[in-house]
Amino acid sequence: MLKELEELQRQAEAELSSAKTEGEFLAVRTRYLGRKGLLTRLLRNIGNVEEEKRPLFGMRCNEIKEAISGKIDTALAKLASLRREEVLLRDKVDVTLPGRTHRYGRVHPITRVRQEICSIFAGLGFSVVEGPEVELDYYNFEALNIPKDHPARDMQDTFYIEDNIVLRTHTSPVQIRVMEKQRPPVRILSPGRVYRPDSDISHTPMFHQIEGLLVDKGITFADLKGVLTSFLKQLFGEDTALRFRPSFFPFTEPSAEVDIRCVMCSGSGCRVCGQSGWLEILGSGMVDPEVFKNVAYDPEEVTGFAFGLGLERIAMLKFGISDIRLFFENDRRFLEQF
Ligand code: PHE
Repeated sequence: MLKELEELQRQAEAELSSAKTEGEFLAVRTRYLGRKGLLTRLLRNIGNVEEEKRPLFGMRCNEIKEAISGKIDTALAKLASLRREEVLLRDKVDVTLPGRTHRYGRVHPITRVRQEICSIFAGLGFSVVEGPEVELDYYNFEALNIPKDHPARDMQDTFYIEDNIVLRTHTSPVQIRVMEKQRPPVRILSPGRVYRPDSDISHTPMFHQIEGLLVDKGITFADLKGVLTSFLKQLFGEDTALRFRPSFFPFTEPSAEVDIRCVMCSGSGCRVCGQSGWLEILGSGMVDPEVFKNVAYDPEEVTGFAFGLGLERIAMLKFGISDIRLFFENDRRFLEQF
């Protein structure tokens, strides 16, 4: 049996020296050292060996087992490291490439204009108040001197939610809400979203307005002119020419629309200003006594002025944007310019 054992070792070593792949080495291991392997079987039959030779036989068995399994482990480790090296050579990483940078957000142009206007009026003593976008008919129309079936309702097409509930068509209802709660003097600015069923290159169904209201003893049209002139010159530049044009709003009397000299053509006439040389910027007027009566202010005691303007329009003129829909598409190429 000892001879058989030596023969087995030679055989195993011959097989190992011709093995090349991982699979072949593993096969040798199973063939000799596995549970039913040749060496395992010999060792199991140690009882057939003459008694005095058994220790030697056992020792040799173990030595051969160690030798074979050691060679297989070494070979497998070598194969694994070769493969790793191959992968490293194939998958080259260029460590000199620049890393991925983070994209920074920008302040939306509408937000920028709102912040700028609010800060100009903060300097004039106005504080910011907000109101609901889903509004009662009473605040959006009735209390502003626009009764049901009044033709002035046609000025502002309206999204109705229920008979008496609308999406506000302007920020003017905030005037009423403020005056109901607060006695004069009042000096507020109210930015927010407003809604009208309109959609084209210069109208979106939702847009932004800012409302202003100032009420105190002895306020006159001269105050309106002074405040709005100072505001528009701060917003568009000290040299901006303005004109106040008579207009009509049910909640102001008298009313005026304010134009600035066209920022595109400086007044010579272009497509943006419709060849007129002027751009309509805001609506304004002295608060109508009927409105004061609705909030229990005494029109004999106090007077005031109000104004409203659209932020998209201001932003389009300030930044030279020709299509209002760009504000709402969230295209980064557009937004990153601001
Ligand atoms: N609310 C008016 C509009 O949306 C603007 C305005 C506000 C006019 C305040 C006069 C006074 O057209």
